[in-house]
Amino acid sequence: MQLDLFDIPDNSAAEKEEILALRRELDKANYKYYVLSQPTLSDREFDRKMRRLQDLEALHPEMADKNSPTQRVGSDLSQKNGFRQLGHRHPMLSLANTYSEQEIHDWYERVCKDININPEIVCELKYDGLSISLWYEHGVLTHALTRGDGTRGDDVIDNVKTISSIPWKVESSKFNVQSFEIRGEILLPWESFERLNKEREEQEEPLFANPRNAASGTLKLQDPRIVAKRGLDAYLYYFIADDEPSDTHFGCLEVAKAMGFKVSDAIRVCHSIDEIMDFIGYWDTERKNLPVATDGIVLKVNDLNLQKQLGYTAKTPRWAIAYKFPAEKQLTMLKKITYQVGRTGVVTPVANLEPVQLSGTVVQRATLHNEDFIHQLGIQEGDMVWVEKGGEIIPKITGVESRRQESGGQYAYQFISHCPECGAMLVRDPEQVAWRCPNEEGCPPQQKGRIEHFVARKAMNIDGLGSETIDFFFEKGLIRNVADLYDLRYDDILSLEGFQQKATQNILHGIEQSKQVPWSRVLFALGIRMVGETTAKKLARRFTSVDMLRQATVEQLTEVEDVGIQIAESIQRYFSKAENISIVERLSAVGVQLESSDKLQTAQFVEYSNILAGKVIVISGTFSHHSREEYKDLIEQHGGRNTGAVSKNTSFILAGDNMGPQKLEKANQLGVQIMSEDEFLELIDSKDLT
Ligand code: IVH
Repeated sequence: MQLDLFDIPDNSAAEKEEILALRRELDKANYKYYVLSQPTLSDREFDRKMRRLQDLEALHPEMADKNSPTQRVGSDLSQKNGFRQLGHRHPMLSLANTYSEQEIHDWYERVCKDININPEIVCELKYDGLSISLWYEHGVLTHALTRGDGTRGDDVIDNVKTISSIPWKVESSKFNVQSFEIRGEILLPWESFERLNKEREEQEEPLFANPRNAASGTLKLQDPRIVAKRGLDAYLYYFIADDEPSDTHFGCLEVAKAMGFKVSDAIRVCHSIDEIMDFIGYWDTERKNLPVATDGIVLKVNDLNLQKQLGYTAKTPRWAIAYKFPAEKQLTMLKKITYQVGRTGVVTPVANLEPVQLSGTVVQRATLHNEDFIHQLGIQEGDMVWVEKGGEIIPKITGVESRRQESGGQYAYQFISHCPECGAMLVRDPEQVAWRCPNEEGCPPQQKGRIEHFVARKAMNIDGLGSETIDFFFEKGLIRNVADLYDLRYDDILSLEGFQQKATQNILHGIEQSKQVPWSRVLFALGIRMVGETTAKKLARRFTSVDMLRQATVEQLTEVEDVGIQIAESIQRYFSKAENISIVERLSAVGVQLESSDKLQTAQFVEYSNILAGKVIVISGTFSHHSREEYKDLIEQHGGRNTGAVSKNTSFILAGDNMGPQKLEKANQLGVQIMSEDEFLELIDSKDLT
């Protein structure tokens, strides 16, 4: 039989289409990942698509394009940010990476063959943060550049200087190095990441998917004081100088360590592929006990001359490769999609799953984010779905494996049209992805959520009123809004089941104390949409009373830093509602601070630091330089935490005159340090404020 040429399938056109589509998709994913810190693809998906593109481009050399994502390093350069951009002295390349042990064997063999000996290989952890290049001139830190597009980066030195493990000055001359560059990874440790997300959840701000995105979002903030509070850390892993202090990579890292840089101890100089595989096997499980996220192992030829001999491809060094740990994923059934209504009325779909074990925890719920996310994945109840928990703490649904039988393969999921809590018809802002319940005044989770927000530590800081108590009071009809809190009577609470005298007194005392909370925090506590803690501070500085704020025009409001049209309109919307005006008037009548005192205004200009990070501080007695509330603010502004009772966790007591006798006795018993007002002010270096 004769073969007709037309019988041979010609995939060429389809492949070319695919190349273009993949380039578009990867460009978009790079932008979302590096610039917006909001990844749209899992690392594994990204790598798979990149490989597919590489393979297709190899088949079609006529389609070569130096702008293809295969030829470029993803860029974190943002057009809008205010950082100075600088060219890298040495391009910041990425590493070739693989999920396959076989490819590690192949790489090692190729290296041995190319240089004709079995070289020493340094194995290190692959830290999952963002890379940074630090420049030191005569021992002084002068620049800190992000990777950018690999050729130029943003100089984020002011933010980097808040990271305590990065020295501002080192005695490099002792090691005969004048000027050098050191590269490493900036990370947000798990603990800080969880704390940050918890805070964001309380304030209904979008959560960070993983510590890497949180670190990258943090490093791009314009305010180093906020960066300082977040608790970033850095590990350094690559030393570059004209005249290196050692002939080996390992030797250079030892010198860096001696200079005071944080270099991980999880490093091993290996002499064979077996030793390399041992290292990989050990850290595959052991890495789960580390304080920071890692996603693989980096292998580097130790000898710097051999590195030079092996050289580079366009994008990566030939002398190094990364082995990536497989993401942990599981297949499970999506039993039901339920909906949660938050404080601001945003409706979030939640996947209720058949429980599965994933990275040591049982997962049974995962967020589905919003309607678009559901439709993009084509998810519906009864499907078998993939759940992943790579470097991420929040489990994610990454795809649908198979459809439930009854659907006959048809996709027909409909997002709800009415609020599951109050029945109101949902609305969707054309520019937003979220559906919202517009019934602000009458939708219970929104009403309760506003009260919870009001009493939160960062707002009115009312002790003794947790979300369960608020739920209970709400159900009993005692409170409907935040002003009702100030009408609560001793007997009303005491008559409720489960409330003894002490708890009742505590609640009322907390409410009474909240009348001292300064105006900027009261403004935040009101829960005006889009007015977060920082915005509230800035607004309160410019509009020193609620009346001034209420009368402000959109133009006046937008003169405040960070306040755009949307926030300004949100403020005006708040004050256009009779219910809100009545609440504000009632708050004012009971003595809540709805204007600033002069002293407090000064306190708002205080410089922030992290000097009290991790410190738990009890305040007791009366003070002469600042009020108790101002001291609470000062403690927070310097990274500490204020609590009510003395315990073994108390770091010290800030004691004024007439310290409470019980606190004094407890402090003596536990050996807790007592610090005077003057000592404290000296510690935070703000005596000039008095
Ligand atoms: S060495 C030329 N070592 O992984 C080689 N990189 O995919 C320079 N990374 O951009 C990099 N841990 O952000 C090296 N121990 C380690 C690393 C590491 C994490 C990151 C780094 C780099 C990316 C490459």
